[in-house]
Amino acid sequence: MKKMMQLGLVISTVLMGATVTYANDAAEGIDAAKLFKKKCAMCHAIDKNKTGPAVKGMNSDSEALRSAITNGQNRMPKFGEKFSAEEIDALVLYIQAQK
Ligand code: HEC
Repeated sequence: MKKMMQLGLVISTVLMGATVTYANDAAEGIDAAKLFKKKCAMCHAIDKNKTGPAVKGMNSDSEALRSAITNGQNRMPKFGEKFSAEEIDALVLYIQAQK
C-alpha cells in the first residue's frame, strides 16, 4: 500500500512538472527576464536610471518600445539584427509588465 502511494506521488509530480513546462511554453516560449538580464540590464535597471532610463519610466506604447529596441535611439544600441521579432515582442511585454 505504501509503495502504491509513493508511486502515485511520483506520477503526479511528473505530470505536474509537465503541465507547468507546457503552460510556460504556450504563454511565452521566450524567457524575456533572462534576455533582459543578459542584454539590457547593464544599461537599464527596473526602477533607477543607469546609462539608460529605468524600465518603469519607459514609454508604455508597444510601437515606441518595439521601435527603440529594433532601431536604437540616440545612445540606445539597436537590436533588430540580434533578436527575432518574437524576442523583441517578449521584451516589449516584459517592459510593460514592470509598470
Ligand atoms: C549600452 C547601453 C544600453 C543597452 C545595452 C540597452 N539600452 Fe536601452 N537605452 C539606452 C539609452 C542610453 C537609452 C535612452 C535613449 C534616448 O536618449 O532616447 C535607452 C532607451 C531605451 C528605450 C526607450 C525608452 C523610452 O521610453 O523611450 C527602450 C524601450 C530600451 N532602451 C530598451 C532596451 C532593451 C530591451 C535592451 C536590451 C535588449 C536595451 N534597451 C539595451 C541604453 C542601452
